[in-house]
Amino acid sequence: MSENSLRPGDSNRIAREYIDSLLVETRWIGSREADTAFSLFGRTFSTPVMTGTLSHLNTFARPGGMIELAEGAAAAGAVMWMGMTEDEEAEKIARTGASVIEIIKPYKDRELIRHRLDLAADLGHLAAGIDIDMVYDAAGEERVFHGYPLQEITQDELYDLCDYSRIPFIVKGILSERDALTAAACGAAGLMVSHHGGTTEYAIPPLYALELISENEDFLKHPVPLFADGELRSGSDVFKAIACGACAAGIGRPLIAAIKENGAESVADYIRKTTAELKKMMISTGCGTLSEIDGSMLYIK
Ligand SMILES: Cc1cc2nc3c(=O)[nH]c(=O)nc-3n(C[C@H](O)[C@H](O)[C@H](O)COP(=O)(O)O)c2cc1C
Repeated sequence: MSENSLRPGDSNRIAREYIDSLLVETRWIGSREADTAFSLFGRTFSTPVMTGTLSHLNTFARPGGMIELAEGAAAAGAVMWMGMTEDEEAEKIARTGASVIEIIKPYKDRELIRHRLDLAADLGHLAAGIDIDMVYDAAGEERVFHGYPLQEITQDELYDLCDYSRIPFIVKGILSERDALTAAACGAAGLMVSHHGGTTEYAIPPLYALELISENEDFLKHPVPLFADGELRSGSDVFKAIACGACAAGIGRPLIAAIKENGAESVADYIRKTTAELKKMMISTGCGTLSEIDGSMLYIK
C-alpha cells in the first residue's frame, strides 16, 4: 500500500473501492461468442480497452516509452490516448500508425492550444481535446507544468475550441453532470470521465459520475460518447465501466509498468489480456456485443 492510499481522501483508493463494490449478475442461458469490436469516429478497433492519457514516459518508464506505448496500442488494435508532448514526439508517435486521441494542456498561451489542434488534425489523429482538471496545484496556485504556464478554460473558450478543431474535440476531466452538460453544449464530441489519478481529494469515483451523466435526461437529449479512466485494471473493471455508461475505457499506470518490463510487446499483451477478460465477462452475462452491456447487470455490494 502506498503512503498516498493511507490518506482518507485518496481518490484512487475511493475509486478502487467503488469498482470493487459493483457486483455482476450472470446470464448463461443462450450465451454465445462475444465480439469486442469497437467503433469510434468512423474507425473500428479490436477492443474498447484503450491506453490511458500518458506523457513524459521517457522519465516515468524508459527512453522511447511514448513510442512504445503507441506501438503497443497499434499492435493490439486499440486507441492510444496521448498526453502532453512536444511537436517532434507527437510526429514520431503518429508515424507508428497508432490511432491517437491527443489531450492538450490548457496552456495559458492559447495560440499554442490552437497550434496543437492544427497539428493533431494534420497528423491524422482520431480526435483531440483538452484536460480541465489539473490547472491548480495543491496550494491552489496555477501550475507551470514542465515549463508551460497553465490557465483554466472558460465556457466561451471551450465553445471556440470545439468550433475551431477540425477533428472531434474531447474534454477530459469530467466528474459531474454539470460539467458534462456544459462541455456537450459547447460542442464536445466526447467526454473522458476522470479525476486524473487523484488530483482532487474525496473525488466521487469516475464510474459513479459516469452513471449519473449517462442517465441524465438532458444529456440523453444530445448524448456524446463517454469514456472513463481511474483505477481500471482488468477486463471486469472495463466491463463495469461500460455497464455504467462508457463506450470504452483507459488504463494508465499499469502500462507504465508494462513498458518498463518489455516495451511495446508488454503493452500489447496487457491490452490483449484485459480484452480477453472482458470477452469472458460478456459471455458470462449473455452479451454478444459491447452495446448489449448495461447497468441492469450491476449490483452494489
Ligand atoms: C505518468 C503519467 C502521465 C500523465 N500525463 C497526462 C497528461 O499529459 N494529460 C492528461 O490528461 N492526463 C495525464 N495523466 C493522467 C492519466 O491520463 C489518468 O487520468 C490517470 O493516470 C488515472 O488512470 P489510471 O488509474 O489508470 O492510471 C498522466 C498520468 C500518469 C501516471
